[in-house]
Amino acid sequence: MNIPNSMVMVIFGASGDLTRRKLMPALYLLHKHKRLPKHFAILGVSRTDFTDEGYRERIRSQLLRFVKPEEVDEALVKSFVHLLHYLPMDPADKDAYLHLQPKLLELDRMIGNHEHYLYYLATPPSLYGVIPQYLKNVGLNLDKGTQGKKRIIVEKPFGYDLESALELKNVYYKDAFREDQIFRIDHYLGKETVQNILAFRFANSIFEPLWNRNYIDYIEVTAVENMGIEQRGGYFDGVGTLRDMVQNHLIQLVAITAMEPPMAFNADSFRDEVAKVYQSLTPLMEEDMKEHIVRGQYTASESKKGYREEKDVDTLSRTETYLAMKMGINNWRWSGVPFYIRTGKHMPTKVSEIVVHFKPTPHRLFNCSERNSPTANQLIIRIQPNEGIVLKFGMKLPGSGFDVEQVAMDFSYSSLGELPTEDAYARLIEDCILGDPTLFTRGDAVEASWRFFTPVLDYWKKHPEMPVYGYPAGTWGPRESEAMMHEHGAEWTNPCKNLTNTNLYCEL
Ligand code: BG6
Repeated sequence: MNIPNSMVMVIFGASGDLTRRKLMPALYLLHKHKRLPKHFAILGVSRTDFTDEGYRERIRSQLLRFVKPEEVDEALVKSFVHLLHYLPMDPADKDAYLHLQPKLLELDRMIGNHEHYLYYLATPPSLYGVIPQYLKNVGLNLDKGTQGKKRIIVEKPFGYDLESALELKNVYYKDAFREDQIFRIDHYLGKETVQNILAFRFANSIFEPLWNRNYIDYIEVTAVENMGIEQRGGYFDGVGTLRDMVQNHLIQLVAITAMEPPMAFNADSFRDEVAKVYQSLTPLMEEDMKEHIVRGQYTASESKKGYREEKDVDTLSRTETYLAMKMGINNWRWSGVPFYIRTGKHMPTKVSEIVVHFKPTPHRLFNCSERNSPTANQLIIRIQPNEGIVLKFGMKLPGSGFDVEQVAMDFSYSSLGELPTEDAYARLIEDCILGDPTLFTRGDAVEASWRFFTPVLDYWKKHPEMPVYGYPAGTWGPRESEAMMHEHGAEWTNPCKNLTNTNLYCEL
């Protein structure tokens, strides 16, 4: 796929947090590495009143904060902000789109573009259904010949539950955009190390024979953070961890770990296999809701505020900032293998990793060393930080007797050379510019995911007595989540212990 010659990118929500922290730094990196169309302009759209110059100055100062210092090049920052233009407009105001159209044509004339537009919805989710309809009203949804394609990137959560996701789907499909124009972004799929799981599984033959219920006992998927909700109370309090992290990022990690090998590495085959995993998730019954899901909310500890004291959060909020759950996949490969997933804010460290626990040997021949009893083999896939893969296996301790201890074989991604400097957003925006939807979530997968999770949301709504456990900020979450693991005779893996070089990993 080739980079198109020209394009105008319209960012709705241009004065927001996502634009500042993620989109502009990603676009700057693409500019730096000459991966943007030759004739390119960015039109920022939001309600705040800026002139082009004022907006450029704002983004320039923010770039210096959010781009890694080694990536900053004054001349390139200058040429990048020159690509920026601004239109003060309320995206929720139908009539405002009458001004958007001439503004785009003006930019087209300026850079020599042929109505090739990429829209990015970096707005509150409440506008995801409104913007496409208003774009359609002024004909800005329709392709114009082969050069004038229209694409739209939509942030998660796509929908609030199954019903609203279906409504949103109708808005897009019936009225405004075809599936091949819609790019539902999940930045976890843009992470190099998440893509590497595919290489690990499907570019090696030795793991595949073991990758099933015959050899795997259970799988843990962890994506925890050491930060709270920061300034995002207004958004987060109405959303919660299930919608913010689990329904999209965590479930993507489960799918990539569990999917069948795609027939080919292209958008259709890859996304067919992802959708099949979502469709095979074992539906949750009432007992599962009670016993296999633990919700938590961080409380004040030391210098850290409790969730209910955060800005824009209801002082009696029951929104979860932590979620652990046990889930299953009902297919030939995974039947009976539990997937334990957990995610939370204000945990002791920031880490995302998948731990595959293999079954123990059927017969124990040797003694365990007292220092380190050999549990079964584990394969740890570290997504971030300190990216890499660790395989744990038992080895005989030197000397007399036959004590066996578990050792770790550790591959660090950085040993392949310099880690890619661009981040997940840069990768995904570039893919969208190229028109490659492989790493974007397809509509049927979103629907299947909501089909699985919506009963949980409904159950919580119907049973307000279901507990939300407090956990002190900076700890590993509610104690109750341990019980879920004990049932399996196991414990959550402490990611800090998985590494030889823990200093790099933990911020305890
Ligand atoms: C976002 C969530 O999608 O992912 C945030 O909205 C979360 O709440 C973030 O902090 C985590 O992403 P990463 O890449 O830092 O693991």
